[in-house]
Amino acid sequence: MTTGEPLIVLDGVNKWFGPLHVLDDVSLSVGRGEVVVVIGPSGSGKSTLCRTINRLEPINSGTITFDGTPLPAEGKALAKLRSEVGMVFQSFNLFAHKTILENVTLGPVKVRGEKPAAARERGLALLDRVGIANQAEKYPAQLSGGQQQRAAIARALAMQPKAMLFDEPTSALDPEMVGEVLEVMTSLARDGMTMVVVTHEMGFARHAANRVIFMADGKLVEDAPPAEFFANPRSERAKDFLSKILTH
Ligand SMILES: Nc1ncnc2c1ncn2[C@@H]1O[C@H](COP(=O)(O)OP(=O)(O)O)[C@@H](O)[C@H]1O
Ligand SMILES: [Mg+2]
Repeated sequence: MTTGEPLIVLDGVNKWFGPLHVLDDVSLSVGRGEVVVVIGPSGSGKSTLCRTINRLEPINSGTITFDGTPLPAEGKALAKLRSEVGMVFQSFNLFAHKTILENVTLGPVKVRGEKPAAARERGLALLDRVGIANQAEKYPAQLSGGQQQRAAIARALAMQPKAMLFDEPTSALDPEMVGEVLEVMTSLARDGMTMVVVTHEMGFARHAANRVIFMADGKLVEDAPPAEFFANPRSERAKDFLSKILTH
């Protein structure tokens, strides 16, 4: 696997919700193994950007390619894309009536056709990797928010994705649980996972990101390495945003 070669490429992407222009001529290339953090004010289109990449949202114009192929619109190819692009949301989205291990093994068995015993073994290894192997037989409600979010990450990883999208994965967590989730994400980044991460955790952006993208009003306003972005944001919008989030 070559680091740097483009894995996710958006070219001139536009997306409207009715009259609202939520993605305005967005072009972006994310290389293999690259970690891109997306920041910006509420309503700037960050979630929509993530959702277009695994085609939870269709786009109105422009192109998106993943691993060299335009995103498929439907059918088996779309299911394959969804398994190759893992997504972790703010709300943990675990199946409440399945155990943590079942949550992790369901996709591999049903979608990827893995043998249950093999899926179980791999699932346990993934739960171990995110530090919750001892919670495997519990139900989501019995876990803390931080543990549930780590289970959600393990579940996405169980599909052996080529990239992971994180949409504010720590925003719903109590403050004391943010660190344990960021730690898992940092270790994934270090292991070479391609990641697009929407977050307000500027520490993570500084230390784990290769690039920071600042969005406002559906546009990519800045795209720079974190050290450069934080030391010298070029646009007034980014300066204003940073002054607000770094002072509270
Ligand atoms: N399904 C939808 N239908 C209509 N408007 C939407 C929908 N989803 C998002 N929006 C609007 O699109 C804009 C961008 O939303 P979003 O991508 O969620 O922004 P962010 O994640 O940066 O807060 C917002 O104005 C939001 O209200
Ligand atoms: Mg959002």
